[in-house]
Amino acid sequence: MASRAGSLALSHVSLHYGAGLAVLHDVSLTLARGEFISVIGRSGSGKTSLLNLAGGFVAPSSGQVSVDDRPVTGPGPDRAVVFQDDALYPWRSVRENVALPLKLRGMAPAARAERARAWLAEVGLQDHGDKPIWQLSGGQRQRVGLARALASEPEFLLMDEPLGALDAMTRDQMHELLLRLWQDSHAGALLITHSVEEAVFLSTSVIVLAPAPGHIVHREDFDFGRRFLCGEDPRALKSEPAFIAARERLLAAIHGKEPVHG
Ligand SMILES: Nc1ncnc2c1ncn2[C@@H]1O[C@H](COP(=O)(O)OP(=O)(O)OP(=O)(O)O)[C@@H](O)[C@H]1O
Ligand SMILES: [Mg+2]
Repeated sequence: MASRAGSLALSHVSLHYGAGLAVLHDVSLTLARGEFISVIGRSGSGKTSLLNLAGGFVAPSSGQVSVDDRPVTGPGPDRAVVFQDDALYPWRSVRENVALPLKLRGMAPAARAERARAWLAEVGLQDHGDKPIWQLSGGQRQRVGLARALASEPEFLLMDEPLGALDAMTRDQMHELLLRLWQDSHAGALLITHSVEEAVFLSTSVIVLAPAPGHIVHREDFDFGRRFLCGEDPRALKSEPAFIAARERLLAAIHGKEPVHG
């Protein structure tokens, strides 16, 4: 079996749709396995476009997207995507939804049933495998989406606002689950989010995109997620002065004010 990929890179990537306006300009970004990068920025700044490039759903107009040193030419099993709308089959069972991509990849029935069972247990849905999706809550559906993405055991997990529709408490629980899954899977995570607080808490790095055309205006590294995984209390972490200051700096960067370094 081929060795596992180490990093997903966008190198001087620009994108325009048709002959129209540029959507992204000269964006460079490297996501290594074991990193958790969040991308924030105003609506229309090109966040989803960036994720689509990383996923191989669209090709850059210039620059290159690559995994290790191989150019990305389309979607692949090394990069799993969790979309904003959960994109599950509502009439199929939870287990079938998780196992379907494995079936499409030709995995034998017994192996994919076992893989689906294991990942449903990881996200706390071991007792819900037989239920149709339409019987689940929004938070449960998001967990099915995560289990489905992780069941492919991808090197990179790409997520476009996966938690946007959830209430605050469910969101906090999902943050903690997401960090544990990220740690256990050793994947590189790329998260698009509108929540600055979520980005600061979860990420090893946060990138701020400014619009017209989308370009990186700010980048900062954090260790709150790793500290949570080492046993620190999440509420205490989120009320630390350093956390609050980081949130304010990133908000200022999003709204085009000069970020204060220090
Ligand atoms: N398929 C497409 N064809 C033409 N233009 C597009 C296409 N997809 C996106 N765009 C344009 O590209 C720009 C960036 O869109 P994108 O969806 O990447 O932004 P975003 O940062 O994800 O926004 P949001 O926060 O609202 O999700 C927008 O101006 C959008 O209209
Ligand atoms: Mg978007």
